[in-house]
Amino acid sequence: MAEEAILGFLQNHEQIPDSGQFAAEHNLDHNDVVNVIKSLHGFGYIDAQDIKRETWVLTDEGKKYAAEGSPEVQLFLAVPAEGSVPKDELQKKLDPSVFKIGCSQAGRNKWVEMGKQVSRKVQHVEDKVKGLLLQIQEGKEIGKDSISALKARKLIVPQTWKGYSVKKGPNYAPKRKKVATDLTRENLQRGDWKDLEFKEYNFNAKGQPVEAGHLHPLLKVRKQFKDIFLQMGFEEMPTNNFVESSFWNFDALFQPQQHPARDSHDTFFLKAPSTTRTLPEDYVERVKRVHEFGGYGSRGYAYDWKREEANKNLLRTHTTAVSSRMLYALAQKPFAPKKYFSIDRVFRNEAVDRTHLAEFHQIEGLVCDRGLTLGDLIGVLQDFFSRLGMSKLRFKPAYNPYTEPSMEIFSYHEGLQKWVEIGNSGMFRPEMLLPMGLPEDVRVIAWGLSLERPTMILYHIDNIRDLFGHKVDLNLIKQNPICRIGI
Ligand code: PHE
Repeated sequence: MAEEAILGFLQNHEQIPDSGQFAAEHNLDHNDVVNVIKSLHGFGYIDAQDIKRETWVLTDEGKKYAAEGSPEVQLFLAVPAEGSVPKDELQKKLDPSVFKIGCSQAGRNKWVEMGKQVSRKVQHVEDKVKGLLLQIQEGKEIGKDSISALKARKLIVPQTWKGYSVKKGPNYAPKRKKVATDLTRENLQRGDWKDLEFKEYNFNAKGQPVEAGHLHPLLKVRKQFKDIFLQMGFEEMPTNNFVESSFWNFDALFQPQQHPARDSHDTFFLKAPSTTRTLPEDYVERVKRVHEFGGYGSRGYAYDWKREEANKNLLRTHTTAVSSRMLYALAQKPFAPKKYFSIDRVFRNEAVDRTHLAEFHQIEGLVCDRGLTLGDLIGVLQDFFSRLGMSKLRFKPAYNPYTEPSMEIFSYHEGLQKWVEIGNSGMFRPEMLLPMGLPEDVRVIAWGLSLERPTMILYHIDNIRDLFGHKVDLNLIKQNPICRIGI
């Protein structure tokens, strides 16, 4: 319809000066006209020039008053022609916002006398506001002062109207020629290919999206972290056991058996197999002793350590379980300094909300060497986090059962303009390291953080369920950039 109208009109006219007017005169929808103009322009049937006009449209409030009358008139009409009405009674008759705005506008217009009683000061009022709003709604022009007044009351907002002026183009024809997009077998058989006009190739058209595998944002960020550790000379620990015994997850870390984290409210215990089969017996004996009586300068926890508790299988609650196994293995050989890291999944019996899931990923680093100090820990953390683009760090004393001293790590987030907690760290306690058999002057500095948190910050995701789990939009994974760490 629109296409015939435009091409037909241009047959006997120089131009269409304004697509808006044209649409109105021909009873066409302006959007349809615009679409046809774009398409005809693309094929050179017509030339089109943009026209822009500032127009005004009604806000929701404006639309309401255009339909129901302005609040001041609604209020005026609710006041009796003779006598007066108590103000609170008037209030009950009207919508709260109509009453509030109506009072102030009708008062300003000197239409009513406002006091405890409200009465009319004039006989008749005219609803100018409604009239003006209706005019705007019909696309009519109104005076500048009226525009400012309606704008100030937020009854109208500006809107840019876009349309076109149109002339004949180089390929103008009163009717669009059908162009062939394919050369078919039938065209060849019939021989009509000789007369067909073929559509030009559009080399600017976007291709089909490639159906291929895509890395999840967590994997991309994990790769960056892994590269940073490798650049710093760290070796990756084997983390391929989600199931761990309480012994390696807690006891070896000098975490007492009554610790609340060892409760089923916080930890997922396994039903089958519910217990571990083997543990290094002599080491278990030393761990039991350090929990019960201490040693190595410690008083221990002075409680009855139970083997059954240590045997219980669980889904590991932190990757520090892996670190404890690795340090124990290291202690069984002549000592050599080590730098280890791991990035893998851990599980906690958490209430799920926008920042917590029952499974997430931890990044953990540790350095094991003779004579390390807290200064070394701070230095390594500074080096590590600077490589992520976070060089403003602060540390806050904290508590972990297996580290002393312990520090929470904070980084200044330029975007959020505040200090945000980014990790936890500390020096492993002698009660953990010495029963393993590590030499007395060996210290281990370590830190841990979640992989999800930096990933959410980097990818501007504020709900963890949009990042991980069954509610994730696959387009997030297909369309996200490679990684944006450190910028
Ligand atoms: N395991 C700690 C946690 O779960 C992190 C940590 C690792 C703390 C190493 C100190 C040293 O949060």
